[in-house]
Amino acid sequence: MARIDFDGPVAAVYQSGRGAPEGGLDGWRAALGHYLPVRGPVLDLGAGTGLYAQLLRSWFGVRIVAVEPALAMLRQAPPEAARVVGRAERIPLAAGSCGAAWLSTMIHHVADLPAAARELRRVLPPGAPVLIRSTFPGDQSRIALYRFFPTAGAVLDTFPSVAQVEAAFTAAGFALHERRRIRQVNAATLAEFHEKVRHRANTTLLAIPDSEFTAGLALLRAAAATETDQPAVSELTLLALR
Ligand SMILES: C[S@@+](CC[C@H](N)C(=O)[O-])C[C@H]1O[C@@H](n2cnc3c(N)ncnc32)[C@H](O)[C@@H]1O
Repeated sequence: MARIDFDGPVAAVYQSGRGAPEGGLDGWRAALGHYLPVRGPVLDLGAGTGLYAQLLRSWFGVRIVAVEPALAMLRQAPPEAARVVGRAERIPLAAGSCGAAWLSTMIHHVADLPAAARELRRVLPPGAPVLIRSTFPGDQSRIALYRFFPTAGAVLDTFPSVAQVEAAFTAAGFALHERRRIRQVNAATLAEFHEKVRHRANTTLLAIPDSEFTAGLALLRAAAATETDQPAVSELTLLALR
């Protein structure tokens, strides 16, 4: 079970609540350029609305297979991507059919991580990369959001740790190739950040009481009024396994 129902109301606001300004994800583009393009299609696992399907396609000219369990999310993915309803624990693709896999902020929703790792081993040929973008327990201070929503930040500590992810993938036959933090700009100003955050399109924000969400938004609004030229910046982790 995912932590939240992505077929519910969050699907309608996800695109408005996420994403980054022009150039805000350049760090990811540079980091992923060490792995992409690849010969076969890139499996975007837990693709959501296809935010990254679109970017990976434009950055690297790769073909994308977007696999996603929530129809309300998947139907927003770009039509250029092959769109397939499915989940990580049982990927509905043939053995060896993809050239790489991209898992962006979805690993904490996977109920059976060892099964997902085994499935990725099956659909990727030997040596093909699994590229995981995520936040992990202890990362709170690196994420712009949690300055304003500390109780949501505490939810991060319930996410799988790097060690748990690595163990699941190692057991399936992968080895950790690279682990690094990548800086990204979530919004060019705190006012723009507020415009995104108010949609509450985030698992940890949905886990806190409404009163705490409202209080955090007020804090963010106050900061935006004084820190007018401050961008919202975060560091997420890239785990690359082969
Ligand atoms: C926070 S969204 C991330 C979407 C997209 N990867 C992105 O970065 O914008 C998490 C996505 O994982 C999907 N998901 C949840 N459980 C999953 C599972 N077991 N296998 C694959 N995807 C899953 C959800 O439906 C949701 O679309």
